[in-house]
Amino acid sequence: MKSPEFIQLHHDSTEEVRQELLKGLTANPLPGGAEVSPKFLYDALGSRLFEAITELPEYYPTRVEAAIFSTHAQAMASHIPKGATLIDLGAGNCGKAAKLFVHLAPARYVAVDISVDFLRDALASLQRQYPAIDMVGVGLDFSHTLDLPAQVGAADDGARVLFYPGSSIGNFTPEQALVFLRQVRNACGPVAGSGLLIGVDLVKGIDELEAAYDDALGVTAAFNRNLLSNVNRMVGSDLRLADWAHRALFNTAESRIEMHLEALRDVLVQWPGGSRAFSQGERIHTENSYKWTVAGFSQLLCEAGFTQPTVWTDAQTPEHGRFAVLWAGTNA
Ligand code: AVJ
Repeated sequence: MKSPEFIQLHHDSTEEVRQELLKGLTANPLPGGAEVSPKFLYDALGSRLFEAITELPEYYPTRVEAAIFSTHAQAMASHIPKGATLIDLGAGNCGKAAKLFVHLAPARYVAVDISVDFLRDALASLQRQYPAIDMVGVGLDFSHTLDLPAQVGAADDGARVLFYPGSSIGNFTPEQALVFLRQVRNACGPVAGSGLLIGVDLVKGIDELEAAYDDALGVTAAFNRNLLSNVNRMVGSDLRLADWAHRALFNTAESRIEMHLEALRDVLVQWPGGSRAFSQGERIHTENSYKWTVAGFSQLLCEAGFTQPTVWTDAQTPEHGRFAVLWAGTNA
């Protein structure tokens, strides 16, 4: 009876996190203004609020992506060699990858998330369901560099399939996305048949986009404003939820949804060793979610060293889809 192996590589120091947050909070209005990384949206409550977001009528990406996977899993599997190592980036509850196991028949499943603690229960239960698949949980923050441990490839010489669903690539600027995808290409290794299976949210009408990030029930607003509590806990600051409103706007020129927290009145934020004044209307930028065209993202994949991708969307013609899943191989 196999049991999953766990490797924790990421350890963030409280002091480093504090410094990073304070640098963003105290940034001058020009050029960019205050900002906090979207990773601070995901404390325990924030992660549950995100799960609630995926069930909102306005938030289409999770549902549309799931429909694309269930409709086209067989077609996707026809491009992907059986017996591969499936490497899941940002695995969480491992649910999306698990649905592909019957189609892809991987020999090994590597689940990567920032902490192995998020992976333990999910991997243990998957291992009972799929006793033949080797399972490894890796705790790694790949938002800066994707440095997979040697155990990922182990002694096998099989193909590697990198799996990056959910349109999380949208948090990267195009420049960062290119750097990241080159690292993914590198992590695919030299074996023929390897590649990347990725979910990407597509450009569409501004009303539909903005509704997805500013829902009628206010769950996304709660998700965004909850970041303030997380910051308070991390740096000992006194941000008050009642002083800040959720804003979600599509920036057409940059092709991204921007989430901000906007001061409803003049606010003085204090923490041990410092303070920052915000005028009414001033904003803290908390997230970018870039929206791609199929053509634009395909070109990015090619620039990163992948072949021309195969694309599945929820529409007859790819460019009319709301969401795309792309398979890009490493060799022609
Ligand atoms: C998890 C980054 C894919 O950008 O749609 C959802 C996060 N933010 N609603 C996204 C999010 C607000 C989500 N990603």
